[in-house]
Amino acid sequence: MVESLKMFYTSVGRKLVMALTGLFLFVFLLEHLYGNLLLYKLDVGKAFEEYSAFMAGNLIIRAVEYGLFGGIIIHILDALFITLANRKARPIGYAVSHQSKNSTWYSRNMGLTGSIILFFLIIHLRTFFFPHRFGHPETTMAYDVANAFQTSWYAALYLVSMVLLGSHLNHGIQSAFHTLGRNDMKYRKTLKSVGTILALIIMIGFASFPIVFYFDLFGAATNILAN
Ligand code: HEM
Repeated sequence: MVESLKMFYTSVGRKLVMALTGLFLFVFLLEHLYGNLLLYKLDVGKAFEEYSAFMAGNLIIRAVEYGLFGGIIIHILDALFITLANRKARPIGYAVSHQSKNSTWYSRNMGLTGSIILFFLIIHLRTFFFPHRFGHPETTMAYDVANAFQTSWYAALYLVSMVLLGSHLNHGIQSAFHTLGRNDMKYRKTLKSVGTILALIIMIGFASFPIVFYFDLFGAATNILAN
């Protein structure tokens, strides 16, 4: 038991925690995307509200929600620990850097993209989650979503954040597969493609909301706001 606890203080253990929390957050994103897609049903946001009410009212899902926020915090702390440990191990840096040849932009900027996603998340929770979970707003959640994206800077912030989220996931998913041991040559190319496809699904799926509601494509915004 003590040995296995010690393992999490090693760099291998930390990478494992990073991979597992990252995959857990990715599964949440798939679930969240499914729920949000219900906003496109053109039913005045009814299906979306029912789904949200079910999620908020289910005890098991509420418990998983605590796990979600725990997972986000652990993922961030772990990233900080790994970065600091890497800096300590290599404080001066290489005399000649071939970074751009040996690594991708996605992998070199995980800290930057992760920080911007955290900034996005704070604004996001403040707009949608806290008012409805802890307050008594007069409007529905579907109304708030459609309404928020009528503001150009807010829609633009989401769009940029979703592109960076796509970049973060593109490297993150691959890296998690690698850490979890599925990275032999035979599978490397396939897993890289799988990671990119999954990242694209999340990126395009979430980026569609600011675009569709801002431009009122297929009357999605009017359907919710005019009723
Ligand atoms: C761009 C499209 C998005 C829309 C329209 C959207 C909408 C919402 C709404 C309406 C809620 C409140 C749900 C509730 O209280 O039941 C919510 C919660 C939340 N969102 Fe988003 N979201 C989007 C993207 C994202 C992304 C990309 C992330 C993560 C990087 C994220 C993370 C969260 C979290 C952690 C919560 C609180 C936990 C939960 O409700 O389950 N959202 N979102």
